[in-house]
Amino acid sequence: MGLLENKCAVVTGAARGIGYAIAEVFAENGASVLMADVLKEDLIESSERLRKQTGQNIRYSLVDVTNQQQVEAMILKSMDELGGLDIFVNNAGIHIGHELIDFPPDEWDRVININLKGSFLCTQAAAKRMIENGIQGCILYISSASGKKPDPEGGAYCASKSGVIGLMRVAALELGKYGIRANAILPGATRTKMLERVFENTPELESVLMERTALRKVAVPQDLANAALFLASGLASHITGEQLVVSGGEFMDT
Ligand SMILES: NC(=O)c1ccc[n+]([C@@H]2O[C@H](COP(=O)([O-])OP(=O)(O)OC[C@H]3O[C@@H](n4cnc5c(N)ncnc54)[C@H](O)[C@@H]3O)[C@@H](O)[C@H]2O)c1
Repeated sequence: MGLLENKCAVVTGAARGIGYAIAEVFAENGASVLMADVLKEDLIESSERLRKQTGQNIRYSLVDVTNQQQVEAMILKSMDELGGLDIFVNNAGIHIGHELIDFPPDEWDRVININLKGSFLCTQAAAKRMIENGIQGCILYISSASGKKPDPEGGAYCASKSGVIGLMRVAALELGKYGIRANAILPGATRTKMLERVFENTPELESVLMERTALRKVAVPQDLANAALFLASGLASHITGEQLVVSGGEFMDT
């Protein structure tokens, strides 16, 4: 028996990287999964792969998390095609780095809109549907260790990820009376396309990171997916409003 037997889960940014790994571990643990992303071809390919691999009800939704109508349609699709909405994972995100004095305001807006406003729009739509249907669900947020510490060129990214932590804590506070839990995962460096690009732009960063990481390794997406599985499952039924850092000891919160 998997930890998420008969649960219905939506994961944004699920075409690849951490989002894909979360969809995979959820499906392997018995959940039906709606995978949402802007990358149409990757989304179709990855959802077909996961359906074949797990035999679960795996669907996809082409959605930009900054578009309220598309977000509403994604939630309806979960209700119609999965038959419910027990778990919602706010994972979609981007990273654009510039020093503050050179940060183009339109790029600032793009980061904040996708990482923070997108999480707000999804929280609102998902929570409304959970409340209407009496679902004691769970909302997860993939923030970042960068939500708690400054990164070079991280003005917009760090601000967005700190904002996500604030949003999650208000969600936990306001939705707890409906039995809905909200928690955040704060990944450290994790081997995905996003990190590849950061390493390309700052090649010295990888060795610097290794020196200050207690476990001397970068996470793989499955490390984050396992944390998401725990927080989404009944094992975490009394945990809400919390931040789980998964960084191999690169960042130890105080
Ligand atoms: N990789 C890391 O080191 C790291 C560290 C800390 C936090 N994170 C966070 O983890 C999450 C996943 O990142 P990843 O490393 O897997 O990166 P990734 O770039 O591989 O995946 C991000 C996914 O989000 C999707 N996406 C982007 N904008 C979207 C939008 N507007 N609507 C819907 N989908 C959209 C992308 O298409 C992509 O599939 C992000 O929120 C990221 O900030 C990553």
